[in-house]
Amino acid sequence: MTSEKKDIVVSGIRPTGNLHLGNYFGAIKSFLTMQEECKCYFFIADWHSLTTHPHPDNILKNTRTILAEYLACGIDPSKAVIYAQSDVKEVLELYLYLNMNAYLGELERTTSFKEKARKQPNNVNAGLLTYPTLMAADILMHRAVKVPVGKDQEQNMEMARKFARRFNTIYGVDFFPEPASFSLSSKAVKVPGLDGSGKMGKSEGNAIYLMDDEKAIRQKVMKAVTDSGPTEPNSEKPEAIQNLFTLLEIVSSPDTYNYFNDKYNDCSVRYGDLKKQLAEDIVLFTAPIREKILEIAADTDYLERVAREGAEQARESARLTVDKVREIIGFPALR
Ligand code: ADP
Ligand code: TRP
Repeated sequence: MTSEKKDIVVSGIRPTGNLHLGNYFGAIKSFLTMQEECKCYFFIADWHSLTTHPHPDNILKNTRTILAEYLACGIDPSKAVIYAQSDVKEVLELYLYLNMNAYLGELERTTSFKEKARKQPNNVNAGLLTYPTLMAADILMHRAVKVPVGKDQEQNMEMARKFARRFNTIYGVDFFPEPASFSLSSKAVKVPGLDGSGKMGKSEGNAIYLMDDEKAIRQKVMKAVTDSGPTEPNSEKPEAIQNLFTLLEIVSSPDTYNYFNDKYNDCSVRYGDLKKQLAEDIVLFTAPIREKILEIAADTDYLERVAREGAEQARESARLTVDKVREIIGFPALR
């Protein structure tokens, strides 16, 4: 495949805290595969974080943290373009054009807007309302066709496709491709939390972070919700127990998973043993990443170089798109 014909991929994560296992298995793992095969743009969505974190006291620190974590996970600046969203101002121009053709009703109807408006009733800002148009601008900016994101982003992705189609229709062009969500497996991974229900998330307070040390991981896993154990052979697992097994399936070997699954099915499972094993396997997985994060985070020169070079490459691609969009809409360049 020649470089021009490679599929273009875009994805981003908001710098609102450290990366956790959900982010890793829901997003980063796909980034690692895609950087080998596609033209990838992986960015830090710092503007998006202003919709929920209006006083980003630690914006620089948090952006550096995510950058160091991206790199420690194996995202490679020689294979993918890595940048901070706020370094590519062209995104704002495209955001403006997309907003001109985005309607109040459809923006108000999105689930994430309604959820966030409920969570922060005193700060239902226009950025929150137009979150999907900024996300569409991030994606369409590079004319991406694939977007590795978790299941929770599906509605935003539908909006991005709709805005791409609408732009093409209004201006009678075939300019923006329709981006598709991409997940490594046919069913998108949802990493559960340790509190018995729902997904692992920063704001859920139930996350295991890649940066957690051994002690923190053990404590979190040992505290996970369980029950008094199965009484009937081969019984269905309640959600809290299923969640532990899902985590085992993700981080442990198939042998370990089968061992505890068999024990569950013949009612001899001891959750204490299962949790100990799960904690060990999580530590085994995260310890080398944690070490690398610490090493890379200390090298601020390197981080700055990666961000600067990434921003230059991202701007180059962004400028081509915005220039073309200006031409399509009909703005004469009077210079
Ligand atoms: P959080 O929910 O912790 O705030 P983000 O919304 O910043 O995480 O998500 C960044 C990326 O990680 C998105 O692609 C999202 O779909 C994915 N992701 C987050 N949590 C999970 C999870 N528990 N399981 C699978 N993917 C997840
Ligand atoms: N909305 C995404 C999230 O909360 C972050 C994001 C912003 C994004 N712009 C994007 C993801 C563009 C993929 C592509 O996780």
